[in-house]
Amino acid sequence: MRPIGEQTVLVTGATSGLGQHLVQRLAAGGATVIAHGRDTQRLHRTREQIRAATGREVDTVQADLADLAQVHRLADEVLDRYPQLHALVNNAGVGFGAPGAGREVSADGIELRFAVNHLASYLLARRLADRLVASAPARIVQVASAGQLALDPDDPFTEHDYDGVTAYCRSKLAQVMASFDLAADLVGTGVSVNAVHPATLMDTAMVREAEQAPMSTVKEGVDVVWWLLTDPDLDWVSGYYFDGRKETAAPDPQADDPAARAWLRRLSDSLVAR
Ligand SMILES: NC(=O)c1ccc[n+]([C@@H]2O[C@H](COP(=O)([O-])OP(=O)(O)OC[C@H]3O[C@@H](n4cnc5c(N)ncnc54)[C@H](OP(=O)(O)O)[C@@H]3O)[C@@H](O)[C@H]2O)c1
Repeated sequence: MRPIGEQTVLVTGATSGLGQHLVQRLAAGGATVIAHGRDTQRLHRTREQIRAATGREVDTVQADLADLAQVHRLADEVLDRYPQLHALVNNAGVGFGAPGAGREVSADGIELRFAVNHLASYLLARRLADRLVASAPARIVQVASAGQLALDPDDPFTEHDYDGVTAYCRSKLAQVMASFDLAADLVGTGVSVNAVHPATLMDTAMVREAEQAPMSTVKEGVDVVWWLLTDPDLDWVSGYYFDGRKETAAPDPQADDPAARAWLRRLSDSLVAR
C-alpha cells in the first residue's frame, strides 16, 4: 500500500457523520481527497471546515445517489478528473428513517434504501473498478452494517410489510453480498474489497433521526475505516465482512449463498444498466 499522502481517495457521503470525519483525517494525512456530497452548500461548508481544521484543500463532487443517472455522471466525472484512484469508500447511506415513516422511493422508483445503500455503491464500484485496478495497489471499503436481513426474491424492494429498519437491513446485506462478488472478480488485481460494520449506533444524523440512543462515537467508526484503508497488514485481505476489526464476524448466511448472490447480481445489473 502506498503511504496515504500519495493516495487519491474518493469518499461518498462526506458532508456528515463518519464520511465527514474520515475525509478530514485523510486530508490531514496528506491524501488527495475527493469528497462526495449531494448538496453543494453542505459540500462547500465541509471544504471550509476541513481547510480551517487542517489547512488542506479537498476536492468535491456532487451527485444525488438516489438517481442512477447521477451516479453514472459521478463515475464519469471521477474518471475524467482523476487519472489515478487508490481507494473508494462507499460510505453514503440512508438510515432507518424516523420511527413509523412510510416507504420512500428513489428518482428511478426503486425503494430508497436499496437504491442508495446498495445500488449506488454497486454501480460506483463497478464503474470505477478498472481505474482502481490501473492504480493498484488499491482498496474498496464498503461501509455496511451489522444490521442485516435476508432479501426476499419475491419482494426485493420491500413492497409488503414495509418498515424502514427492514429495508435498511436488507440493503446493508445486499452491500455485503455485492462486495463478496466484487472481491472475487478482482482477485489477483491488487484491489481489495471489504465490507465493514464501523461501530454500533454512532452519534450521527441517521441515528438521531431514528431516535436511537447513541452507543458509539463517530471516532470509533472512523478508526475502523481508517485501519481498513491504511493498515499494511491488510494488503492481501479481501472478500471479508468485518464487524469493527473482527474479520471472523459472520454476516447473514444469505451472503454465503452463491445462488442468492447471483440473483442479486442479475437484479442489480438490470437496474443499473444505462
Ligand atoms: N451511525 C451508525 O451507527 C452506523 C452503524 C453502521 C453502519 N453505518 C453506516 O455508516 C455510513 C455513514 O453513516 P453515518 O452514520 O455517518 O450517517 P449520516 O451522518 O446520516 O451520513 C450519511 C451520509 O450519506 C449521505 N446521503 C444520504 N442519502 C444520500 C443520497 N441520496 N445521495 C448522496 N448522499 C446521500 C448523507 O448526505 P447529507 O450530508 O446530504 O445528508 C450523509 O453525508 C452509512 O452507510 C451507514 O449505513 C452507520
